[in-house]
Amino acid sequence: MAYMDNLTIDSFVIAHVILGIAVSMVTSVKVPGIIVFGDSSVDAGNNNYISTMLKSNFKPYGRDFYGGEPTGRFCNGRLPTDFISEAFGIKPVIPAYLDPKFNVSHFATGVCFASAGTGFDNATSDVLSVIPLWKELEYYKEFQKELNDYLGEEKAKEVIRESLYLISVGTNDFLENYYLIPKRSSQYSIEEYQKLLLGIADNFIAELYEAGARKISIVGLPPMGCLPLERTRNFMFGIECVKEHNLVATDFNVKLQDLVMEINQKLHGIQLVFSNPYDIMWDIIQNPDPFGFEDVATACCGTGLFEMSFLCDKFNPSTCSDANEYVFWDAFHPTHKANSIIANHLFKNYLIQFQ
Ligand SMILES: *[C@@H]1O[C@H](CO)[C@@H](O)[C@H](O)[C@H]1NC(C)=O
Ligand SMILES: *[C@@H]1O[C@H](CO)[C@@H](O)[C@H](O)[C@H]1NC(C)=O
Repeated sequence: MAYMDNLTIDSFVIAHVILGIAVSMVTSVKVPGIIVFGDSSVDAGNNNYISTMLKSNFKPYGRDFYGGEPTGRFCNGRLPTDFISEAFGIKPVIPAYLDPKFNVSHFATGVCFASAGTGFDNATSDVLSVIPLWKELEYYKEFQKELNDYLGEEKAKEVIRESLYLISVGTNDFLENYYLIPKRSSQYSIEEYQKLLLGIADNFIAELYEAGARKISIVGLPPMGCLPLERTRNFMFGIECVKEHNLVATDFNVKLQDLVMEINQKLHGIQLVFSNPYDIMWDIIQNPDPFGFEDVATACCGTGLFEMSFLCDKFNPSTCSDANEYVFWDAFHPTHKANSIIANHLFKNYLIQFQ
């Protein structure tokens, strides 16, 4: 702390002591922060501050979160990214970038740019007027400037380089866009559409790398045909999982993994890891007992068949009393407990190498 020697004005000294503490906090662990991009699987509440109907900042969302507070997370509690941040010894909750309660002093150790309903494809974010992925990157660049001012250029650069970037997106491109709205499916075969999305993923990672990121994990797709809403659409077949959509997910994951290998060879010094949530979710759904779940097919909220966002509200009398018995909280999103199991799996199998 020799740089403080010639400071004389008290408040100036105090400011530097505080700054010194903040700086040592953000660099004392190998991964100083977690930076999140993606959709509702990881959105900590950014959609609260934009004009979309896709929100969850009301009860019963968040009823098992700290203080029972609805935050805009599409869950009764925390998200996988929150658990991952905790597993790295950083903090138990990653704040949303657009939340005015937080500023760069909080974001320096983890920040979320994700937006529920978004996708790789610009046309996906258009469906419910949410934040497109390219705009998440713009926000990230704005954050970098704030971090420079806050920590100084050198320290900021280090935080940017050493932080872990998590990207979780893609389900909506298929379920909210390709299979629901005729435009993309009339333009592209499913293989062509996958290729389009992978091209966007490739560019997105290259831009992150260009901006100074090095430790990056892109998360694969879940068994999306088993989401309660998908089963409900499949009611003619006895609410089984939609096999075709699960196949699209496994196929996409294989291609994503290949892309990750390519990028690792192409971009010098990048540590890009593919994290696969598919298998653990599939295990849970096929064999819920050992995990302590009782219902894998319907969600806790409402009838469990279709409610999410504004349809999942506190007036619904059939919402379950113990969400821990359920894999899914609403018709599209896992419970706090399922998220904790998924996050633990991702941390132990893919992300621990960054520690
Ligand atoms: C961030 O917010 C805290 C209050 O939570 C405040 O004390 C602090 O001055 C703010 N820092 C910056 C850099 O804006
Ligand atoms: C998405 O939209 C942005 C802003 O208009 C544009 O810069 C970008 O090229 C588009 N991305 C794709 C893949 O079309």
